Amino acid sequence: MTRDDMKRAAAAAAIEYVQPAMTIGVGTGSTADWFVTLLSELPAARRPAAAVASSFATAAALRAGGIRVVDPADALYPLPLYVDGADEVDPELRLIKGGGGAHTREKAVATASELFVCIVDETKLVERLGRRPVPLEVVPWAAAFVAERVAALGGRSAARPGFLTDNDNAVLDVTGLELSDPEGLELELDAIPGVVECGIFARRRADVVLAGTASGVRRLSGRRTP
Ligand code: A5P
Repeated sequence: MTRDDMKRAAAAAAIEYVQPAMTIGVGTGSTADWFVTLLSELPAARRPAAAVASSFATAAALRAGGIRVVDPADALYPLPLYVDGADEVDPELRLIKGGGGAHTREKAVATASELFVCIVDETKLVERLGRRPVPLEVVPWAAAFVAERVAALGGRSAARPGFLTDNDNAVLDVTGLELSDPEGLELELDAIPGVVECGIFARRRADVVLAGTASGVRRLSGRRTP
């Protein structure tokens, strides 16, 4: 079984959470793309009423699949369901996201959703967050200042070359941070002026993780985020 097969299996398991009358939130990335593909293969009567996309790319994929897309500014919140991938998942279902640079809208839509179902392949499961860099969406002109503040926390920032987010901001990928307290670090990073959003999802962690493995889909569930 390939990693892509595991992503597809996780996405297929998430389809079970979709009810026809729902307006659902849909994330970004290769695993979320599988979810969009499978949504668009559903018979019309099983499809969600509409979707709020976490990125322009996902909105385009949803439309191409015949799913009605609602602008996030026009949606009625809370959404009943948000489905998205992640770069890392710890045993408490805290996440690192933002490998695709879409984490600002992802965090907002996830936070505005009652149930966050995270779909990953098993390589994303970690004992402790921090194997991958923490992405920071930053206002472009503040990047150097933010990098200095991050250095004071022990982090090394690398600008993602030639990349702009859907919000026309830059992304710094930060390594070397101490992640024993993900909630605290999330607050600390998000408090740096010029940071739009960091890719730590500890305050709004996943409610359910569906992890595709070589022997099937593992379902992990934690406490519901209030
Ligand atoms: C997008 O910005 C990210 O948060 C993705 O959700 C994350 O990088 C997972 O992507 P893949 O499913 O492609 O691994």
